[in-house]
Amino acid sequence: MLDIQSTAAAAPQVIRRDAYREPDWLVPETALDFRLDSLQTRVKARLTVVRHGDHDRPLRLDGDSLTPVAVSVDGRAVTDWTMEDGQLVIALSGVDHVIETEVEIAPELNTQLMGLYASGGLLCTQCEAEGFRRITFFPDRPDVLSRYTVRMDADKARYPVLLANGDPIASGDLPDGRHWAEWHDPFPKPCYLFALVAGDLEANRDSFVTMTGRKVDLGIWVRAADLPKTDHAMAALKLSMAWDEAMYGREYDLDVFNIVAVADFNFGAMENKGLNVFNSRYILADPDTATDMDYDAIAGVVAHEYFHNWSGNRVTCRDWFQLSLKEGFTVFRDQQFSGDQGSKAVKRIEDVRTLRASQFPEDSGPLAHPIRPESYMEISNFYTATIYNKGAEIVRMIHTILGPEKFRAATDLYFARHDGEAATCEDFVKAMEDGGGVDLSQFRLWYSQAGTPRVKAALSHDGATARLKLEQTVPATPGQPEKQPMLLPLKVRLFGAQSEAPLCDERIVMLSAANDEIVIEGIEERPILSINRGFSAPVVLESDRGAADLAFLSAHDDDPFARYEAMQQLMVDTLVRAVAEGMADHGPVIEAVRGTLTDKALDASFIAEAVLLPSEAFIGDQMLVVDPDAINRARDSLRAELGVKLESAWRGAYDSAQANRFEYSPAAKGARRLKSVALGYLAASGAKDAADLAYAQFAGADNMTDRQGALGVLVNGTSGNRAKAIEAFYDRYQDNALVLDKWFTSQALSTRADVMDEVLALSSHPDFTLANPNRVRALAGAFSVNQRGFHGADGRGYAFLADIIIALDKLNPQTAAKLVPPLGRWRRFDERRAEKMRAALQRIVDAPGLSKDVFEQASKSLG
Ligand code: PHE
Ligand code: ZN
Repeated sequence: MLDIQSTAAAAPQVIRRDAYREPDWLVPETALDFRLDSLQTRVKARLTVVRHGDHDRPLRLDGDSLTPVAVSVDGRAVTDWTMEDGQLVIALSGVDHVIETEVEIAPELNTQLMGLYASGGLLCTQCEAEGFRRITFFPDRPDVLSRYTVRMDADKARYPVLLANGDPIASGDLPDGRHWAEWHDPFPKPCYLFALVAGDLEANRDSFVTMTGRKVDLGIWVRAADLPKTDHAMAALKLSMAWDEAMYGREYDLDVFNIVAVADFNFGAMENKGLNVFNSRYILADPDTATDMDYDAIAGVVAHEYFHNWSGNRVTCRDWFQLSLKEGFTVFRDQQFSGDQGSKAVKRIEDVRTLRASQFPEDSGPLAHPIRPESYMEISNFYTATIYNKGAEIVRMIHTILGPEKFRAATDLYFARHDGEAATCEDFVKAMEDGGGVDLSQFRLWYSQAGTPRVKAALSHDGATARLKLEQTVPATPGQPEKQPMLLPLKVRLFGAQSEAPLCDERIVMLSAANDEIVIEGIEERPILSINRGFSAPVVLESDRGAADLAFLSAHDDDPFARYEAMQQLMVDTLVRAVAEGMADHGPVIEAVRGTLTDKALDASFIAEAVLLPSEAFIGDQMLVVDPDAINRARDSLRAELGVKLESAWRGAYDSAQANRFEYSPAAKGARRLKSVALGYLAASGAKDAADLAYAQFAGADNMTDRQGALGVLVNGTSGNRAKAIEAFYDRYQDNALVLDKWFTSQALSTRADVMDEVLALSSHPDFTLANPNRVRALAGAFSVNQRGFHGADGRGYAFLADIIIALDKLNPQTAAKLVPPLGRWRRFDERRAEKMRAALQRIVDAPGLSKDVFEQASKSLG
């Protein structure tokens, strides 16, 4: 039973979207003065405040863990201020005033990594969403835009480089070995985009000439030893700048653009105006330490943060309920960019796989929320796959509905209309309507309704007429029992079973009702349905297509995504049947995989994606009650048979990629990817030489993709090579934190029965620490998505995760809260597991002194 009283007392305040009110006071100018020190930094702030609207309310400045040392109004020290819930409240009589405050903070003791903190000897800031209030008193809300001037001084030997937003204005030396610098950012911005960095850094410098001929100085700042690992990020930055000009007409607007890499960071990276701060894993790369996936992620995140300069900074969010306005749009933009750099089809497959792995479970669980939420306790909990990835799908659907030209006209209108403003999702949709000349009334439901729509499609054929019956339902989600039908753009095409040719052009069916029937005339032979091509709508599709039709599409569809999808569906159907009935006919999957694997017209990277079995988690998502053991058995058995029956094809694929020297090109990447998939199948087949092949690849690799790929195979096995590889990897990379993360992750993802013991042992390894978010995610985060290990029937996986969450919450609530969702899946598991998962959640909720971050996630997960 829940103890209503104590829970109510502990329950943090709920913030509601419909409670939005314009700010009482605006702050057109802000001058900050930092006397930097790792233990005692003094911050002076000088705010010009202007009363907004006709009211007599006092000025309220947000603060978190701040105590005012001094407060003055219009140059006179005052003492008649009060503190209310961390806010500094000052009664003011006039229309505008100058407010000065002074506080002291201790970056070195800031383990939350929000506000001003220390990381590896440097000082840096993270302010989104509400970190600025941990630096100085300020109206910490995104609709208060201010022009910033920042002066800082620091010990010159420890912090020779001093960076902030905007352009450098002046600098100089001071007595006592100190120095100072002043920066000015001419663009008004919300305080969440403020940033400052001080440290012993070196820059990879370059420049970019914009479309109007302005030269921008670029710098990527890292520790001197890491400089050789910054070329890939720099190349990606320049490509992004050119791409945003060509594709969206967006030009960069300052004379300098700086990026700093830091080792301790709660998220991926941050788009602070003119001074992006990155988790070092999204900057540093060389062939010996970064995988192809790392290279791609770096380019994608560099592009993402750069694109925010327009979609996020020039046009920002009115309030945090509008977060997807900048994140969904910017993810869509970075996905487009990455698709343009290599294979569009493979990029789309990867993005859909990510959506299904991280967003679909969210949408069907206790934490489901619309891309524009109605309420929150802690906004950090809403940096979710729904806001980001589903948000991107919604922008993608608008792009599909409008077509590329009108979409460009609509984004031009959006940027022109709202430049310099704090906008809403509604503003965005309105601009899409006005610029695209369409009515998006029903489409707006995507912003308010949570849950993944399900579409049933049934095709019938009679004479020369094909009839496509469509039926949509949107499942109930927490707080939303009833749903209305949504507008779903479904790309459809029919193929001839005999002719193996398309029977009609691709068309976009706009499904708007719960039920509809589409009639297609002139279909003379039995048609096979290709639907939701390119994943044109983010839905779960159910169709009555059998194994033969899916196999046909996997070989003949002209849309590469649809080919991939048909193969996945065939595999899922087979595995779900095998789980339900204890066995299934593997034949159609084996023949379809053989066909794809030996199709000379396909490129290696596509083949590698298409022949991969769906993950255990994804198979589980298809079932009412997830049975992890049965899923493992079914998947292992299909994998083994694929390995055995197609052994020579796997060997062929493996050998043909074997001789390549490292090169970072789409073709070379594809070859490496297929090689690692082939190695996995050879190992699954039980081939005697698989472990030796893997070890030889491990030891002889000239790049991290091959080395980690081999390690990933070896950790699952029992051969003596396993321990040898784990040890050799550690010895070689123990001084490289990012690679050591891979070492932890590879072991946490092991499919062995004893993975829990290994993970427990690793959690007391001297290199494991709760202080570094990357390390926590590398071990505990990775393990929590290892369906076998985490869902071990004894429940030790759940207890382990709860222990980590409770311990980490004391240091870093944001990162702790992100570990909660896997426990919230309890409704999907058998009663014995569900009981243990609930017990783990309850233990978290009951932990004394719990943060509101973790409280919100754990209490909602108990639901
Ligand atoms: N705004 C960042 C991005 O998506 C994410 C982020 C959020 C980073 C909060 C840090 C803190 O680009
Ligand atoms: Zn973003």
